[in-house]
Amino acid sequence: MINEEITNTVANINPEPIGIFTLPNERHLKYKNALEKIVKEIPKDSELIAYDKLSYRICHNFDQHIFEQFESLSDLQEDIHTVLLSYIRRTGYLCDQMVINDAWANMDGKNSTLGFHYHTNSYLSGTYYVNFDNENHTPLSYSNDRLTADRKGPGIDIQENRNSPTIYNQKLISVPIKEGSILIWRSHLTHGFAKPNKEGNRLTLSFNAMPKTCRNTVGHYSFTVSK
Ligand SMILES: [Fe+2]
Repeated sequence: MINEEITNTVANINPEPIGIFTLPNERHLKYKNALEKIVKEIPKDSELIAYDKLSYRICHNFDQHIFEQFESLSDLQEDIHTVLLSYIRRTGYLCDQMVINDAWANMDGKNSTLGFHYHTNSYLSGTYYVNFDNENHTPLSYSNDRLTADRKGPGIDIQENRNSPTIYNQKLISVPIKEGSILIWRSHLTHGFAKPNKEGNRLTLSFNAMPKTCRNTVGHYSFTVSK
C-alpha cells in the first residue's frame, strides 16, 4: 500500500491514435445500399472475389481497387479522403491530399475470425463498418505493442492482475464503434479479431492510404505517390 502522504500518478506516454469517425446516417445508408448491391450482383466466380474459408473479399488483389471498379462508390471514396485528412490534422500533421492506394470489401461469414496482421506499403489504414450488428458481429481489436513481453527481443513477463484491467496490461484493445463508423489507424499497427462472429453477413470496406507528398518537416527529403 502506498503511504498516504505520497501522491502518485502514472503518465501515459506514446499513445496510439485511432480515429473514430461516424458518417451521417443518410449518407451511410446510401453507401450501404450501393455496397450491398455490388455484393448481391457480383458473380460468385468473378476474378474480383478472393475466398478465404468463412469469408471472402472483393478487389483485394494488388491490381484491383474497389473504388476504380465501381463508380457507384465515388462519393464514399471522397468521404474517406476527407476523413483521412481530418485524422492527419487532428494528430498534428500537415497534408492536403491522400492517395487511397488499396480499397476492398470484406464479407465475413458466421464463425469467421480475422488473424492478427498489419499492412505494409501503406501509411494509414482504415475500415468502414457497412453492415455491423454489435450483438452478433465482432469489432476489430488492436494489439498492445507496448507490452514488454510481446515485443521483439528478450522480455520480462510478470503476473497480470486480472481484477485490475488497465491500458497497460491489456493485450488487445478495441474502440467503441457502430455501423456507419470509419476507423483510421497507422498501418503498422497489428489488428484482427479472435472472437468468432455469431452471425454472418458482417460487411466492411477496408483501405490503405498514403500522403500524396511525403515530405519531412524541414523540407530536405521527399517523394510523391501516384497510383
Ligand atoms: Fe487489416
